[in-house]
This record gives sequence, C-alpha cells and structure tokens, in this order.
Amino acid sequence: MLQSIVYDKVKTSLQILDQLLLPHTTKFIDINSVEDAYQAIKTMQVRGAPAIAIVGCLGLVVDVKNKQFSDVTSLQSYIVERLDYLVSARPTAVNMKRAAEDIKTNFMEWKGNPLDSVKTRLIALIENMLEKDISDNKAIGKYGAQSLIDLNPGVDKLNILTHCNTGSLATAGYGTALGVIRSLHSLDKIGTAFCTETRPYNQGARLTAYELVYEKIPAKLICDNAVSVLLKTQNIHGIVVGADRVAANGDTANKIGTYQIAVAAKHHKVPFFVAAPWTSIDMNIPNGDSIVIEQRPSQEMTHVAGIHVAASGIDCWNPAFDVTPAELISGIITETGTFQPDQLTIHKLKS
Ligand code: MRU
Repeated sequence: MLQSIVYDKVKTSLQILDQLLLPHTTKFIDINSVEDAYQAIKTMQVRGAPAIAIVGCLGLVVDVKNKQFSDVTSLQSYIVERLDYLVSARPTAVNMKRAAEDIKTNFMEWKGNPLDSVKTRLIALIENMLEKDISDNKAIGKYGAQSLIDLNPGVDKLNILTHCNTGSLATAGYGTALGVIRSLHSLDKIGTAFCTETRPYNQGARLTAYELVYEKIPAKLICDNAVSVLLKTQNIHGIVVGADRVAANGDTANKIGTYQIAVAAKHHKVPFFVAAPWTSIDMNIPNGDSIVIEQRPSQEMTHVAGIHVAASGIDCWNPAFDVTPAELISGIITETGTFQPDQLTIHKLKS
C-alpha cells in the first residue's frame, strides 16, 4: 500500500512524501522538528485532515525526543505552545485540534510522574494515533462498502464518484472515502471510480488519480464542472467524500466543491455519503455555521504548475473548503458504522 508518512519508531525519525511534487516526482522529505511539520502542513506538502494531525503530532515527537527539559512543567509548557502553533497551520480540519486537546488532557494526568516517564507516555500516545488511523480507515472502508452495496441490491459493479483526495496520501494509510472505494474494489464491486480534478490544488487529478492508477482500480478523471452531467448520464450508484470537520448535526466541511456535488446529487437522487473517522467529528459545535473556512493564496488559482494561467491583475476568492448541510447527506460512514447525520449524537454517546 502507498505510504506517505514514514515513521521509524526505533530511530524516532519522520519522513513524508512531498505531495506538492506528485504525481511526477516521488521525493520524501525529513521532518525533524515542529517547525518542519508546521511548514509542511501550511504549504500542503502534506494535507488531508487525518494526515495533518498525524504529521503534526509525530513532528512533536521527533522534536522533543532528544531535547532536554528541566522538569515536567517546562516540558508541558513547551508542548502546549508547540501544539497551539501546529493547530494554527490550517484552521478548518478539526483533527489536529482534537489531537492537541487529547494530549493536553493526558498531560494533566501524567503530571505527577518523572520527566522520562512522561516523555515516554507522550510518545506512546502519539505513536498509537498512527496505528489507530489505519485500523479506523479499514473499518470505514468495510462499513461504507456495505452501505453502498445494500443501497444497490442486484447491482454487480458500482460506479462511484469521489472528490478531492482522501486516500493513503491524506491519512496514515488506506484512506477514508477512497478507502471505501478500495474496499469495494477488493470485493470486485467497482465498475468505475470517478474522481474530480478538484481545482485549484488538483488533489483529484494529481493525488487520487495517482492512487487509483497505483492500485489498478478502474477509474476515470472528470473536470469539476462535469459532475451534474455525470450524475445525469453515467449511472452513478453513489458518491463518497471525506470531511475536514463534521458538526454535531452532520453539517460537513470538506474540500471546496463538495457542497455543489451534494446539491447535484440531491437533484439526481444519487446517495451522497461522507466518510470520516470520529476524530473528524466535532461534537462541540451544533452545526456548521461556526466552522472557520481557510482562505488559500490567490497564486493557487492563478497559476497551474508554476505557469500563470489567469489574467494578470485579477483578484481571487479562494476558500479551500465549503460546508455541506446535513440535509443533503445520506449517511456518515465512521469506524463504528454508517449513521444518519441526525443520529451522530446518539451513536457518539455509545461509541
Ligand atoms: O486542502 P486539503 O487537501 O487538506 O483538503 C483535504 C480534504 O478536503 C479531504 O477531503 C479531507 O481532509 C479528508 S482526508 C481523509
């Protein structure tokens, strides 16, 4: 399986695949500090909500591992400051914020222990995130595949549309929405997996297409503006996208363009699913209204692979994400099952 985050437990070293150079160049870069991790996240050398959190937290591990601290309190204040810095790199995805809160809460419990033991616990907690993300994604893949099969009884091969990149490159491995497609493929149930280009950063054309080709999954790339006609004419059995943050009522922030796909899906009566681990679900916000939407630099729209394609002097509006209202979502696929958006609160309490 494609691996974009390479963490060596024994050496405590971290490398990531530079996603800015894909699909034509495969180059791993070293992450030796929180600053390296912050820059890689900010410039989108690594992206995707779960991968952002994992690289941020592992960046903290490689940073503190060999640093000297006088006592637990000084380690704690360093960690808190560095975590807040990492959270600020990209504001929409909730995973890094959730991970930071989790680490801070655990720290309160560890405080009475010797410095070395606190460091060891911190490292173990973060290393566990990496493993858990892969097993969560495999469970999401299984539940998602089953939901789509159940909705399409008697259909041998399913045509599925996805948007952005939610695969091995966006997670510790396997992927969320792309994990559902991977899982359907392993059951020999994929007709064609359609992926959008996902302008302006082209996560679909560069990254999802790369993963689909790599995995030999039958697939076709479409322009973002071909979605409605695809749904009208190509017998699409379901749509699966990822999430950067899901609110308690199911409103979902995801890559810009997700909302218009959901609107078109409703019109064409195509089931529209969000696949996301519970770490992407933010029960602290009742709905999507308060989700901060990151604005990206104009350059990402005006230039393609370094070539200036837009008219010089034009101003840009470049929100990186949008919020799809829960009423347009058929189900949210998590590692504990597929739920109606309005059932998240009940299932969270049980999980
Ligand atoms: O700007 P990006 O590439 O970080 O946006 C990624 C997405 O919107 C993904 O759909 C989301 O993070 C889920 S990745 C499993």
